[in-house]
Amino acid sequence: MSASCDTIGIGLAGFGTVGSGVWNMLARNGGLIADRARGALRFEIRRIVVRDPGKEREVTAPAELFTTDWQSVVEDPSVDVVVELIGGTDVAYELVAAALVAGKPVVTGNKALLAERGGDLFALSREHDTPIHFEAAVAGGIPIIKALQESLVGNRVSSITGIINGTSNYILMRMTEAELDYPAALKEAKELGYAEVDETLDVNGWDAAHKAILLGTIAHGFLIDPEEVYVRGIEYVRPLDIRFAKDLGYVVKLLCIVREHGDGSIEIRTQPSFIPKSHILASVNDVFNAVAVRGDAIGDALFYGRGAGQDPTSSSVVADLVEAGRLLRQGRGSGHRGFLPYRETGTLKPIDETETAYYVRFPVTDRPGVVADIASLLAEAGIGISGTHSPVDPDQPDAEFVDMVFLLHTCPFGTLKGALKKIEALDCVTERPVVFRIETL
Ligand SMILES: NC(=O)c1ccc[n+]([C@@H]2O[C@H](COP(=O)([O-])OP(=O)(O)OC[C@H]3O[C@@H](n4cnc5c(N)ncnc54)[C@H](OP(=O)(O)O)[C@@H]3O)[C@@H](O)[C@H]2O)c1
Repeated sequence: MSASCDTIGIGLAGFGTVGSGVWNMLARNGGLIADRARGALRFEIRRIVVRDPGKEREVTAPAELFTTDWQSVVEDPSVDVVVELIGGTDVAYELVAAALVAGKPVVTGNKALLAERGGDLFALSREHDTPIHFEAAVAGGIPIIKALQESLVGNRVSSITGIINGTSNYILMRMTEAELDYPAALKEAKELGYAEVDETLDVNGWDAAHKAILLGTIAHGFLIDPEEVYVRGIEYVRPLDIRFAKDLGYVVKLLCIVREHGDGSIEIRTQPSFIPKSHILASVNDVFNAVAVRGDAIGDALFYGRGAGQDPTSSSVVADLVEAGRLLRQGRGSGHRGFLPYRETGTLKPIDETETAYYVRFPVTDRPGVVADIASLLAEAGIGISGTHSPVDPDQPDAEFVDMVFLLHTCPFGTLKGALKKIEALDCVTERPVVFRIETL
């Protein structure tokens, strides 16, 4: 930090949704933040990195602050803290790495960067004794990172269950409440600005998975390789399954699960799942997020709030800025709890060994004996059936092809996969079976 100066200089990389929100929030609440630090903590955005400085913007800042040259911002002696809000994993990586090497604390909201390349960046953070703060990377305005790292630090965390992608949650809610199909619900989410122009990472599950990886790493102390994480998105959810879920007393949510098992292995996965209508997570709607944490001392705790958007995300970025500022004032580096994996390695539970109950929908030819054929192959695999369901489509009461739903008792996913392979080969099964896990939570 420029020692003679009372004010902490910020290099703000990115002036889009979140970056301009941070500008606004510091303008609005900078005085309040200073008052809370007894006047000892003031912030000033001294440089702003963008792709196109000439672009018309809703939020304005003095033209002389803008540049496309991120290196000059990192090197600028008047910049004490670098805030990375450009997104992506290439330029953002170079920028964050350069800031750490220069000994400048980093604040970022970039979960993809940390989940994919966090290993290297946190090694640099340690090497250069310079922290990375990333509250905004998980669940927008909900302070879940600080909760896990600070408030719950004395707990052994046995499970984290999250609804942490607002776009998917909105789409699934509209498919449930308004009975829209997936393309119509996605279109609506885009029109309302809830989905990105490129919605890929939101709907294919990876945005949520990146966040789950960060939560898992904080809770269990070792870096998690994204390639070993089971991830499914909501693109394949059909109105039919949403309707059957409703009939059966469930709702469909894109759920992230991080769970510790008795043998010390960690189960981590993201996928659309059935949860009981009566569970508190079933009422998390719109673009809201919720993270349920179970700790050995605290028991169950629920964190709920806005998981994205300009102001909520800026709230987390500014909180990190204040923390970075305080540490700088105290002359401390990454001696703070940061994101320092405390175990070299850990074991992830192979997805085939993870166990839940299941909903399986088989598109079949409507002929006598279909149920018995499927049931006998399930029995052969040792999988119990808790119910079957074959609603007649009121528009096609005499249809030749129907959907046969089986609710299955808890078994390893690998066992189910083996049985489904054999069932798919039956000539009465016309398409690949559709599987949802049923989470009892
Ligand atoms: N939006 C949310 O609600 C939210 C919530 C939590 C976390 N985040 C994370 O926050 C980060 C920023 O998200 P956002 O929604 O604010 O993004 P955004 O609206 O797309 O803004 C990105 C900003 O970065 C600049 N930029 C992009 N690539 C650049 C490059 N190569 N060189 C220089 N500048 C570049 C853009 O410049 P121009 O303005 O010139 O185009 C723009 O100002 C992402 O990592 C995102 O995952 C976002």
